[in-house]
Amino acid sequence: MAYPYQIKSIEEYQQNYQQSVIDPEGFWANVADHFYWRRKWDKVLEWNFKEPDIKWFVGGKLNITENCLDRHLGTLGNTPAIIWEPNDPEERHRVITYRDLYNKVCQFANVLKNNGVKKGDRICIYMGMIPELAIAVLACARIGAIHSVVFGGFSAQSIADRIQDAQCSLVITCDGAFRGNKDIPLKSVIDDALIGCPSVKKVIVCTRTRTPVSMIKGRDLWWEDEIKQVETMGNPPCPAEEMDAEDMLFILYTSGSTGKPKGVVHTCGGYMVYANYTFVNTFNYQPGEVYFCTADIGWITGHSYIIYGPLSAGATTLMFEGVPTYPDAGRLWSITDKFRVNILYTAPTAIRSLMGYGLGPVNHKELSSLKKLGSVGEPINEEAWHWFKDHIGKGRCPIVDTWWQTETGGIMITPIAGVTKEKPGYATLPLPGVQPILVDENGKEITGNGVNGNLCIKFPWPGMLRTTYGDHERCRTTYFATYENLYFTGDGCQRDEDGYYRITGRVDDVLNVSGHRIGTAEVENAINMHAGVVESAVVGYPHDIKGQGIYAYVITERQTHDPELTKKDILQTVSRIIGPIAKPDKIQFVSGLPKTRSGKIMRRILRKIAEGELDNLGDTTTLLDPVVVEEIKRGRL
Ligand code: PRX
Repeated sequence: MAYPYQIKSIEEYQQNYQQSVIDPEGFWANVADHFYWRRKWDKVLEWNFKEPDIKWFVGGKLNITENCLDRHLGTLGNTPAIIWEPNDPEERHRVITYRDLYNKVCQFANVLKNNGVKKGDRICIYMGMIPELAIAVLACARIGAIHSVVFGGFSAQSIADRIQDAQCSLVITCDGAFRGNKDIPLKSVIDDALIGCPSVKKVIVCTRTRTPVSMIKGRDLWWEDEIKQVETMGNPPCPAEEMDAEDMLFILYTSGSTGKPKGVVHTCGGYMVYANYTFVNTFNYQPGEVYFCTADIGWITGHSYIIYGPLSAGATTLMFEGVPTYPDAGRLWSITDKFRVNILYTAPTAIRSLMGYGLGPVNHKELSSLKKLGSVGEPINEEAWHWFKDHIGKGRCPIVDTWWQTETGGIMITPIAGVTKEKPGYATLPLPGVQPILVDENGKEITGNGVNGNLCIKFPWPGMLRTTYGDHERCRTTYFATYENLYFTGDGCQRDEDGYYRITGRVDDVLNVSGHRIGTAEVENAINMHAGVVESAVVGYPHDIKGQGIYAYVITERQTHDPELTKKDILQTVSRIIGPIAKPDKIQFVSGLPKTRSGKIMRRILRKIAEGELDNLGDTTTLLDPVVVEEIKRGRL
């Protein structure tokens, strides 16, 4: 497949960028022209950031799976679409060609139809990283059902919250999932989750681990049995549902600074164009290249850059079931060697953790196939950047440090591989179509270079979120109300002398732990669920491997006799309410929290203490009880 919109030089980048600002509609129409539309759009863009109301390719009709599958069959039918590497290196890998994938998606789409799923229904997917997960996602898209993938590390309670919020009617899961030396009992977690979810009428269970599961009559069905039924029907094709460009494609829950995670909504047309455009350009993807993204499909990176971006581009996408450290810390390099991977897209936290094992696991691995490297999810520190560059890329592969968010749908600020001059720690320049702006607390634009501010985007791009599911007002207040007429990212940002952007981290109460987004309020609520906890405050602190660690200050009802036991109980509660990823790294018991006279917790102070900056707490005179700060300082962990 050729990509006429692929940028090949910095001059071309500048030209394209200028054009995308002067005439965004013309720019995106040119890109969108290279997709398969059932019906062309009437208008490229209608928008306001007030309500907000954003529509791309108005009146256009399409199905994203026709762009990811059908249109490739003629030329790429026998080309690998998905290469799957299992958790256990001894198990056989799988290669699924575009034709195979098309057949499997149609087959499973028919399974969903046989089970009464219709356009617009919400389907929860809770699976490990096996090809059937990608097949399930695409099968939903094929028939216009809205998928809501929940990461396999979330607890029953978190799943229940998400299912209830979206009123899902069907769940697709596995008996279990292999991850490293763990075997996660997915179906049993779903059973617990569904106790409070009457909207779910059916559960389809795919076999993976052969963990014993209980199947509920009339509700639970085996994936394999359902497929057989379609086979006995003679494997009829499954025509793709015609979708409006602005029909919902999927919901993906993500954490914010307040309340429960919200369901970020992406729609069919704009998301497709954006995921494809950003994939093809950021990685400078060339036909035939093997591309390996180590993310989980439970996160946006997996949606956009394991499934929709690569497949819409006819690329070969490698999907890995396991973790980078199993069976040893050389696993990613073994996989790279085994499949002659050309592009590797991973997270700083993985790089930092692998750095800790030294060069032993890297030496003697054949990494000469690598051409381009990528990083995503959190700021990449210079040390990790150089290690990646020198020891993995052997000094010859460009690194793209890609900044973006669940809400942006695709990459926003990034070098273009082989085109943009890189700089460690910098996401560098916005892709064409992306108009970043830095503002101060009052929303006043900060112009010029060598400046810092809050990162906003001032013009719509096709991949942006349209709403938060079931609560449009929440979308408005979270992203569009802080600064008038701007989308607020929640990130702090520096623009250096060269006009390069460097993301400095969240400026709100959102943590980034090992690249996972977690709201402090969410963790606090979970801690407070533990009997005996009166109040808690959670902040982040720098962590060598995770980027940020979770530091919790906890007030208990009475002095605990066995603080270690209480800590363990609290960790268990957090695991149960959210999932293991949200477990605090440190818990400090305190008798009070620093509050203003109006009762607001002064997190700034708690953050400084957690960071170890004890002499630099700033003004504490407005505190209700300044003494408490001294006590907290003394008890710091
Ligand atoms: O703080 C930024 C950080 O991750 C946040 C988005 O998290 P999430 O929606 O889970 O999406 C992660 C994958 C796109 C951002 O607000 N972040 C993401 N990429 C970078 C980053 N921070 C610095 N540099 C990056 N390249």
